[in-house]
Amino acid sequence: MTLALRQGDEAFLSALRSFSQFGAPTQVVTEEGLAYYVNEFWTAGQRRGHSLHEVSYRACFKPQLPQFFIDRLTRPGDNVYDPFMGRGTTPLQAALQGRRGSGSDSNPLSAMLTRPRLQPPTLVEIAERLAQAPLKDASTEIERDDLLVFYHPDTLRQICALRAWLIWRASLDAAPDAVDDWIRMIALNRLTGHSPGFFSVYTLPPNQAVTVKAQMKINARRAQSPPPRDVAALILKKSLALLADGAPPPMSGARLAVADATRLDHLENACVDLVVTSPPFLDVVNYRADNWLRNWFAGVDAESIVISQLRDIGAWTRMTRAVFEELARVVRPGGHVAYEVGEVRGGGVLLERLVWEALEGLPFERLCVLVNRQRFTKTSNCWGVANNSGGVNSNRVIIARRWN
Ligand SMILES: C[S@@+](CC[C@H](N)C(=O)[O-])C[C@H]1O[C@@H](n2cnc3c(N)ncnc32)[C@H](O)[C@@H]1O
Repeated sequence: MTLALRQGDEAFLSALRSFSQFGAPTQVVTEEGLAYYVNEFWTAGQRRGHSLHEVSYRACFKPQLPQFFIDRLTRPGDNVYDPFMGRGTTPLQAALQGRRGSGSDSNPLSAMLTRPRLQPPTLVEIAERLAQAPLKDASTEIERDDLLVFYHPDTLRQICALRAWLIWRASLDAAPDAVDDWIRMIALNRLTGHSPGFFSVYTLPPNQAVTVKAQMKINARRAQSPPPRDVAALILKKSLALLADGAPPPMSGARLAVADATRLDHLENACVDLVVTSPPFLDVVNYRADNWLRNWFAGVDAESIVISQLRDIGAWTRMTRAVFEELARVVRPGGHVAYEVGEVRGGGVLLERLVWEALEGLPFERLCVLVNRQRFTKTSNCWGVANNSGGVNSNRVIIARRWN
Protein backbone atom coordinates (compact mmCIF):
# COMPACT_ATOMS: atom_id res chain seq x y z
CA MET A 1 0.00 0.00 0.00
CA THR A 2 1.43 3.38 -0.92
CA LEU A 3 0.50 6.81 0.27
CA ALA A 4 -2.53 7.93 -1.68
CA LEU A 5 -3.46 11.59 -1.42
CA ARG A 6 -6.92 12.15 -2.77
CA GLN A 7 -8.42 15.50 -3.57
CA GLY A 8 -10.79 16.55 -0.81
CA ASP A 9 -9.26 14.19 1.74
CA GLU A 10 -9.28 16.94 4.35
CA ALA A 11 -9.02 14.77 7.43
CA PHE A 12 -5.98 13.09 6.02
CA LEU A 13 -4.29 16.38 5.04
CA SER A 14 -5.11 17.90 8.38
CA ALA A 15 -3.65 14.91 10.18
CA LEU A 16 -0.53 15.17 8.08
CA ARG A 17 -0.09 18.80 9.11
CA SER A 18 -0.94 18.23 12.75
CA PHE A 19 1.03 15.12 13.47
CA SER A 20 4.09 15.36 11.29
CA GLN A 21 6.10 16.08 14.45
CA PHE A 22 5.37 12.60 15.76
CA GLY A 23 8.54 11.00 14.55
CA ALA A 24 10.22 9.99 11.35
CA PRO A 25 10.12 8.07 9.17
CA THR A 26 6.41 7.83 9.67
CA GLN A 27 4.61 5.72 7.13
CA VAL A 28 1.29 7.14 6.08
CA VAL A 29 -1.40 5.12 4.43
CA THR A 30 -5.08 5.63 3.73
CA GLU A 31 -7.41 2.68 3.87
CA GLU A 32 -11.15 2.99 3.42
CA GLY A 33 -11.03 6.70 4.21
CA LEU A 34 -8.94 6.37 7.39
CA ALA A 35 -5.51 7.96 7.58
CA TYR A 36 -3.09 5.62 9.34
CA TYR A 37 0.24 6.92 10.66
CA VAL A 38 2.56 4.01 11.32
CA ASN A 39 5.78 4.22 13.29
CA GLU A 40 7.49 2.92 16.37
CA PHE A 41 6.40 6.02 18.26
CA TRP A 42 7.12 4.72 21.76
CA THR A 43 8.11 1.69 23.87
CA ALA A 44 11.12 -0.03 22.32
CA GLY A 45 14.40 1.52 23.27
CA GLN A 46 12.82 3.64 25.97
CA ARG A 47 13.44 3.02 29.62
CA ARG A 48 10.65 1.64 31.77
CA GLY A 49 8.09 4.03 33.18
CA HIS A 50 8.14 5.60 36.64
CA SER A 51 8.17 3.01 39.46
CA LEU A 52 4.72 4.14 40.69
CA HIS A 53 3.20 2.60 37.56
CA GLU A 54 4.29 -0.90 38.57
CA VAL A 55 0.85 -2.11 39.59
CA SER A 56 -0.70 -4.81 37.46
CA TYR A 57 -4.14 -4.59 35.87
CA ARG A 58 -5.89 -6.42 33.03
CA ALA A 59 -5.35 -4.81 29.61
CA CYS A 60 -3.56 -1.77 30.99
CA PHE A 61 -1.47 0.28 28.60
CA LYS A 62 2.15 1.23 29.08
CA PRO A 63 2.77 4.70 30.54
CA GLN A 64 4.70 5.64 27.39
CA LEU A 65 1.37 5.76 25.53
CA PRO A 66 -0.26 8.57 27.56
CA GLN A 67 3.16 10.22 27.94
CA PHE A 68 3.46 10.49 24.17
CA PHE A 69 0.19 12.42 23.85
CA ILE A 70 0.59 14.44 27.06
CA ASP A 71 3.99 15.66 25.81
CA ARG A 72 2.61 16.79 22.49
CA LEU A 73 -0.94 17.93 23.18
CA THR A 74 -0.90 19.56 26.63
CA ARG A 75 0.90 22.08 28.79
CA PRO A 76 1.67 21.96 32.54
CA GLY A 77 -1.52 22.43 34.57
CA ASP A 78 -3.82 21.11 31.81
CA ASN A 79 -6.52 18.63 32.69
CA VAL A 80 -5.87 15.13 31.32
CA TYR A 81 -8.76 12.68 31.69
CA ASP A 82 -9.42 8.96 31.27
CA PRO A 83 -13.06 7.73 31.45
CA PHE A 84 -11.92 4.05 31.46
CA MET A 85 -8.95 4.56 33.74
CA GLY A 86 -8.34 0.98 35.02
CA ARG A 87 -5.22 1.09 37.19
CA GLY A 88 -4.95 4.82 36.43
CA THR A 89 -2.04 4.90 33.99
CA THR A 90 -3.25 8.13 32.35
CA PRO A 91 -4.00 10.18 35.49
CA LEU A 92 -0.76 9.04 37.14
CA GLN A 93 1.38 9.79 34.10
CA ALA A 94 -0.33 13.18 33.76
CA ALA A 95 0.43 13.96 37.42
CA LEU A 96 4.06 12.91 36.96
CA GLN A 97 4.28 15.38 34.08
CA GLY A 98 2.82 18.25 36.12
CA ARG A 99 -0.68 18.07 34.62
CA ARG A 100 -3.95 17.56 36.48
CA GLY A 101 -4.45 13.81 36.22
CA SER A 102 -8.13 12.88 36.42
CA GLY A 103 -10.26 9.93 35.52
CA SER A 104 -13.12 7.58 36.22
CA ASP A 105 -14.10 3.95 35.82
CA SER A 106 -17.33 2.13 36.53
CA ASN A 107 -15.49 -0.17 38.97
CA PRO A 108 -14.70 1.52 42.32
CA LEU A 109 -11.60 -0.66 42.48
CA SER A 110 -10.04 1.59 39.89
CA ALA A 111 -10.04 4.71 42.10
CA MET A 112 -8.67 2.58 44.94
CA LEU A 113 -5.75 1.59 42.75
CA THR A 114 -5.14 5.08 41.38
CA ARG A 115 -5.75 7.65 44.14
CA PRO A 116 -2.99 6.61 46.58
CA ARG A 117 -0.31 6.80 43.92
CA LEU A 118 -1.15 10.40 42.98
CA GLN A 119 -0.04 11.59 46.43
CA PRO A 120 1.79 8.73 48.13
CA PRO A 121 2.60 8.67 51.83
CA THR A 122 6.16 8.15 53.06
CA LEU A 123 7.59 4.73 53.86
CA VAL A 124 7.79 5.67 57.53
CA GLU A 125 4.07 6.55 57.62
CA ILE A 126 3.25 3.23 55.96
CA ALA A 127 5.42 1.23 58.38
CA GLU A 128 3.91 3.01 61.41
CA ARG A 129 0.35 2.38 60.23
CA LEU A 130 1.06 -1.28 59.52
CA ALA A 131 2.41 -1.62 63.04
CA GLN A 132 -0.99 -0.42 64.34
CA ALA A 133 -2.98 -2.89 62.23
CA PRO A 134 -4.20 -5.97 64.15
CA LEU A 135 -2.64 -8.39 61.66
CA LYS A 136 -1.25 -10.86 64.14
CA ASP A 137 -4.48 -11.25 66.13
CA ALA A 138 -4.83 -15.04 66.34
CA SER A 139 -8.51 -14.74 67.27
CA THR A 140 -9.40 -13.26 63.85
CA GLU A 141 -12.11 -15.27 62.21
CA ILE A 142 -11.50 -16.65 58.73
CA GLU A 143 -14.69 -15.59 57.01
CA ARG A 144 -14.07 -17.27 53.64
CA ASP A 145 -12.49 -20.66 54.18
CA ASP A 146 -12.78 -21.45 50.45
CA LEU A 147 -9.86 -19.01 50.10
CA LEU A 148 -7.60 -21.48 51.90
CA VAL A 149 -6.95 -22.86 48.45
CA PHE A 150 -4.84 -19.71 47.85
CA TYR A 151 -3.58 -18.96 51.36
CA HIS A 152 -1.99 -20.61 54.36
CA PRO A 153 -4.42 -20.27 57.33
CA ASP A 154 -2.07 -17.79 59.10
CA THR A 155 -1.85 -15.68 55.97
CA LEU A 156 -5.61 -15.73 55.40
CA ARG A 157 -6.14 -14.68 59.01
CA GLN A 158 -3.85 -11.66 58.43
CA ILE A 159 -5.66 -10.81 55.17
CA CYS A 160 -9.10 -11.04 56.81
CA ALA A 161 -7.92 -8.89 59.73
CA LEU A 162 -6.48 -6.24 57.42
CA ARG A 163 -9.58 -6.24 55.24
CA ALA A 164 -11.97 -5.81 58.18
CA TRP A 165 -9.75 -3.12 59.73
CA LEU A 166 -9.53 -1.08 56.50
CA ILE A 167 -13.28 -1.35 55.83
CA TRP A 168 -14.05 -0.33 59.42
CA ARG A 169 -11.65 2.64 59.31
CA ALA A 170 -13.03 3.79 55.94
CA SER A 171 -16.51 3.88 57.46
CA LEU A 172 -15.36 6.35 60.14
CA ASP A 173 -14.34 9.24 57.88
CA ALA A 174 -15.89 10.77 54.81
CA ALA A 175 -12.49 11.62 53.32
CA PRO A 176 -10.15 8.73 52.53
CA ASP A 177 -7.11 8.39 54.77
CA ALA A 178 -4.04 8.56 52.54
CA VAL A 179 -2.03 5.92 54.42
CA ASP A 180 -4.90 3.42 54.70
CA ASP A 181 -5.58 4.05 51.03
CA TRP A 182 -2.02 3.19 50.14
CA ILE A 183 -2.00 0.02 52.23
CA ARG A 184 -5.27 -1.13 50.62
CA MET A 185 -3.86 -0.47 47.14
CA ILE A 186 -0.72 -2.51 47.83
CA ALA A 187 -2.69 -5.34 49.48
CA LEU A 188 -4.96 -5.49 46.42
CA ASN A 189 -1.90 -5.96 44.30
CA ARG A 190 -0.31 -8.60 46.49
CA LEU A 191 -3.39 -10.82 46.86
CA THR A 192 -2.44 -13.39 44.26
CA GLY A 193 0.51 -13.95 41.98
CA HIS A 194 3.18 -16.27 40.77
CA SER A 195 6.09 -15.54 43.14
CA PRO A 196 6.83 -15.39 46.89
CA GLY A 197 6.29 -11.61 46.67
CA PHE A 198 2.53 -12.31 46.81
CA PHE A 199 0.33 -13.45 49.68
CA SER A 200 -0.85 -16.55 47.77
CA VAL A 201 0.64 -19.83 46.73
CA TYR A 202 1.72 -19.96 43.05
CA THR A 203 -1.17 -18.99 40.75
CA LEU A 204 -1.78 -16.83 37.67
CA PRO A 205 -0.14 -13.37 37.49
CA PRO A 206 -1.72 -10.81 39.81
CA ASN A 207 -4.03 -9.07 37.33
CA GLN A 208 -6.20 -12.16 36.94
CA ALA A 209 -7.53 -14.18 39.88
CA VAL A 210 -8.60 -17.69 38.93
CA THR A 211 -11.63 -19.33 40.49
CA VAL A 212 -11.34 -21.47 43.62
CA LYS A 213 -11.98 -24.53 41.49
CA ALA A 214 -9.25 -23.64 39.01
CA GLN A 215 -6.80 -23.01 41.85
CA MET A 216 -7.54 -26.47 43.26
CA LYS A 217 -6.46 -27.91 39.93
CA ILE A 218 -3.28 -25.79 39.87
CA ASN A 219 -2.44 -26.96 43.40
CA ALA A 220 -3.02 -30.59 42.48
CA ARG A 221 -0.99 -30.37 39.28
CA ARG A 222 1.94 -28.71 41.03
CA ALA A 223 1.55 -30.76 44.23
CA GLN A 224 1.65 -27.52 46.21
CA SER A 225 -0.01 -26.12 49.29
CA PRO A 226 0.00 -22.46 50.36
CA PRO A 227 3.09 -21.45 52.38
CA PRO A 228 2.85 -18.94 55.27
CA ARG A 229 3.54 -15.29 54.35
CA ASP A 230 4.15 -12.14 56.34
CA VAL A 231 1.53 -9.76 54.96
CA ALA A 232 2.94 -6.57 56.53
CA ALA A 233 6.48 -7.35 55.35
CA LEU A 234 5.28 -7.95 51.77
CA ILE A 235 3.29 -4.70 51.80
CA LEU A 236 6.34 -2.80 52.98
CA LYS A 237 8.58 -4.43 50.39
CA LYS A 238 6.26 -3.56 47.52
CA SER A 239 5.85 -0.02 48.88
CA LEU A 240 9.60 0.43 48.81
CA ALA A 241 9.71 -0.71 45.16
CA LEU A 242 6.82 1.56 44.09
CA LEU A 243 8.29 4.59 45.84
CA ALA A 244 11.80 4.06 44.40
CA ASP A 245 11.48 6.88 41.84
CA GLY A 246 9.77 9.38 44.18
CA ALA A 247 6.36 11.03 44.14
CA PRO A 248 4.58 13.18 41.52
CA PRO A 249 4.75 16.95 42.03
CA PRO A 250 1.97 18.28 44.29
CA MET A 251 -1.17 18.88 42.26
CA SER A 252 -4.55 20.38 42.89
CA GLY A 253 -7.79 20.13 40.95
CA ALA A 254 -7.43 16.49 39.96
CA ARG A 255 -10.55 14.38 40.35
CA LEU A 256 -11.22 10.68 40.35
CA ALA A 257 -14.72 9.26 40.19
CA VAL A 258 -16.74 6.09 39.88
CA ALA A 259 -18.81 6.57 36.74
CA ASP A 260 -20.08 4.99 33.58
CA ALA A 261 -18.06 6.47 30.71
CA THR A 262 -21.27 7.56 28.98
CA ARG A 263 -22.38 9.67 31.99
CA LEU A 264 -19.63 11.88 33.38
CA ASP A 265 -21.99 13.98 35.51
CA HIS A 266 -19.20 15.00 37.88
CA LEU A 267 -17.49 16.95 35.07
CA GLU A 268 -18.57 20.40 33.97
CA ASN A 269 -18.67 21.34 30.30
CA ALA A 270 -15.42 21.91 28.39
CA CYS A 271 -13.14 21.27 31.38
CA VAL A 272 -10.86 18.64 29.82
CA ASP A 273 -7.86 19.44 27.60
CA LEU A 274 -6.91 15.91 26.62
CA VAL A 275 -8.45 12.46 26.96
CA VAL A 276 -6.17 9.42 26.70
CA THR A 277 -8.15 6.24 27.11
CA SER A 278 -8.71 2.65 26.16
CA PRO A 279 -12.17 1.06 26.39
CA PRO A 280 -12.92 -2.64 26.83
CA PHE A 281 -12.22 -4.35 23.49
CA LEU A 282 -15.59 -6.03 22.79
CA ASP A 283 -15.85 -8.93 25.27
CA VAL A 284 -12.18 -9.92 25.23
CA VAL A 285 -11.56 -9.33 28.95
CA ASN A 286 -13.92 -10.29 31.74
CA TYR A 287 -13.10 -7.49 34.20
CA ARG A 288 -15.70 -8.69 36.69
CA ALA A 289 -14.40 -12.26 36.88
CA ASP A 290 -10.73 -11.35 36.76
CA ASN A 291 -11.12 -8.90 39.65
CA TRP A 292 -13.36 -11.04 41.88
CA LEU A 293 -10.82 -11.47 44.66
CA ARG A 294 -9.76 -7.82 44.59
CA ASN A 295 -13.42 -6.78 44.71
CA TRP A 296 -13.94 -9.04 47.75
CA PHE A 297 -10.96 -7.58 49.59
CA ALA A 298 -12.02 -4.01 48.78
CA GLY A 299 -15.62 -4.63 49.83
CA VAL A 300 -16.90 -3.86 46.32
CA ASP A 301 -20.20 -5.42 45.30
CA ALA A 302 -19.22 -6.46 41.77
CA GLU A 303 -22.77 -7.41 40.79
CA SER A 304 -23.93 -3.83 41.16
CA ILE A 305 -21.36 -2.42 38.73
CA VAL A 306 -21.99 -1.70 35.04
CA ILE A 307 -19.05 -3.13 33.14
CA SER A 308 -19.31 -3.05 29.36
CA GLN A 309 -18.43 -6.43 27.92
CA LEU A 310 -20.03 -6.39 24.50
CA ARG A 311 -19.68 -9.22 22.03
CA ASP A 312 -21.95 -7.59 19.48
CA ILE A 313 -20.18 -5.16 17.16
CA GLY A 314 -23.25 -2.94 16.76
CA ALA A 315 -23.69 -2.64 20.52
CA TRP A 316 -19.99 -1.83 20.96
CA THR A 317 -20.20 0.88 18.27
CA ARG A 318 -23.27 2.40 19.96
CA MET A 319 -21.48 2.40 23.31
CA THR A 320 -18.50 4.11 21.65
CA ARG A 321 -20.76 6.77 20.18
CA ALA A 322 -22.40 7.40 23.54
CA VAL A 323 -18.94 7.82 25.10
CA PHE A 324 -17.94 10.34 22.43
CA GLU A 325 -21.23 12.24 22.82
CA GLU A 326 -20.28 12.74 26.47
CA LEU A 327 -16.69 13.57 25.57
CA ALA A 328 -18.00 16.20 23.14
CA ARG A 329 -19.54 17.90 26.19
CA VAL A 330 -16.54 17.72 28.54
CA VAL A 331 -13.60 18.27 26.14
CA ARG A 332 -12.88 21.95 25.49
CA PRO A 333 -12.97 23.29 21.94
CA GLY A 334 -9.59 22.51 20.38
CA GLY A 335 -8.92 19.74 22.94
CA HIS A 336 -8.03 16.22 21.86
CA VAL A 337 -9.07 12.62 22.41
CA ALA A 338 -6.60 9.74 21.96
CA TYR A 339 -8.70 6.54 21.97
CA GLU A 340 -6.66 3.35 21.98
CA VAL A 341 -8.03 0.06 20.70
CA GLY A 342 -6.33 -3.30 20.45
CA GLU A 343 -6.42 -6.31 18.22
CA VAL A 344 -9.47 -8.54 18.41
CA ARG A 345 -10.62 -11.70 16.70
CA GLY A 346 -7.26 -12.22 15.00
CA GLY A 347 -7.59 -8.97 13.10
CA GLY A 348 -11.01 -9.95 11.74
CA VAL A 349 -12.61 -6.89 13.33
CA LEU A 350 -10.80 -3.55 13.15
CA LEU A 351 -12.04 -1.60 16.14
CA GLU A 352 -10.55 1.68 14.91
CA ARG A 353 -12.95 1.57 11.97
CA LEU A 354 -15.90 1.15 14.32
CA VAL A 355 -14.70 4.13 16.36
CA TRP A 356 -14.26 6.19 13.19
CA GLU A 357 -17.82 5.31 12.19
CA ALA A 358 -19.17 6.06 15.67
CA LEU A 359 -17.71 9.57 15.45
CA GLU A 360 -19.65 10.41 12.30
CA GLY A 361 -21.65 13.61 12.76
CA LEU A 362 -20.22 14.41 16.22
CA PRO A 363 -18.34 17.69 16.78
CA PHE A 364 -14.90 16.13 16.39
CA GLU A 365 -12.41 16.34 13.56
CA ARG A 366 -11.12 12.82 13.01
CA LEU A 367 -7.42 13.40 12.54
CA CYS A 368 -5.91 9.98 12.05
CA VAL A 369 -5.23 6.54 13.45
CA LEU A 370 -1.79 6.36 14.95
CA VAL A 371 -0.41 2.84 14.80
CA ASN A 372 2.44 2.15 17.16
CA ARG A 373 4.33 -0.79 15.80
CA GLN A 374 6.43 -2.47 18.40
CA ARG A 375 8.38 -4.60 15.98
CA PHE A 376 9.28 -3.38 12.55
CA THR A 377 9.47 -5.98 9.84
CA LYS A 378 10.33 -5.56 6.19
CA THR A 379 8.18 -8.47 5.13
CA SER A 380 5.29 -8.12 2.73
CA ASN A 381 2.86 -7.28 5.53
CA CYS A 382 4.78 -4.09 6.07
CA TRP A 383 1.93 -1.90 7.30
CA GLY A 384 0.27 -4.29 9.69
CA VAL A 385 -2.85 -2.19 9.29
CA ALA A 386 -5.43 -4.26 7.50
CA ASN A 387 -3.93 -7.53 8.57
CA ASN A 388 -2.73 -7.93 12.14
CA SER A 389 -1.06 -11.26 11.61
CA GLY A 390 2.64 -11.93 11.22
CA GLY A 391 3.71 -11.29 14.80
CA VAL A 392 3.20 -7.54 14.63
CA ASN A 393 1.99 -6.14 17.90
CA SER A 394 0.43 -2.74 17.51
CA ASN A 395 -1.52 -0.18 19.48
CA ARG A 396 -3.99 1.73 17.34
CA VAL A 397 -4.97 5.14 18.61
CA ILE A 398 -7.74 7.15 17.02
CA ILE A 399 -6.98 10.84 17.42
CA ALA A 400 -9.82 13.33 17.30
CA ARG A 401 -9.91 17.05 17.91
CA ARG A 402 -12.96 18.80 19.41
CA TRP A 403 -14.23 21.48 17.03
CA ASN A 404 -13.62 25.08 17.95
C1 LIG B 1 -8.82 -1.54 28.85
S1 LIG B 1 -9.23 -1.26 30.54
C2 LIG B 1 -8.44 0.28 30.81
C3 LIG B 1 -7.03 0.11 31.26
C4 LIG B 1 -6.31 1.42 31.51
N1 LIG B 1 -5.99 2.09 30.27
C5 LIG B 1 -5.05 1.15 32.30
O1 LIG B 1 -3.94 1.48 31.83
O2 LIG B 1 -5.15 0.56 33.36
C6 LIG B 1 -10.92 -0.84 30.46
C7 LIG B 1 -11.56 -0.39 31.77
O3 LIG B 1 -12.89 0.00 31.48
C8 LIG B 1 -13.69 -0.22 32.63
N2 LIG B 1 -15.09 -0.19 32.19
C9 LIG B 1 -15.81 -1.17 31.57
N3 LIG B 1 -17.02 -0.72 31.24
C10 LIG B 1 -17.06 0.58 31.64
C11 LIG B 1 -18.06 1.60 31.53
N4 LIG B 1 -19.23 1.38 30.94
N5 LIG B 1 -17.77 2.82 32.03
C12 LIG B 1 -16.57 3.07 32.62
N6 LIG B 1 -15.60 2.15 32.75
C13 LIG B 1 -15.84 0.92 32.25
C14 LIG B 1 -13.19 -1.53 33.19
O4 LIG B 1 -13.50 -1.64 34.57
C15 LIG B 1 -11.67 -1.41 32.89
O5 LIG B 1 -11.02 -0.92 34.03
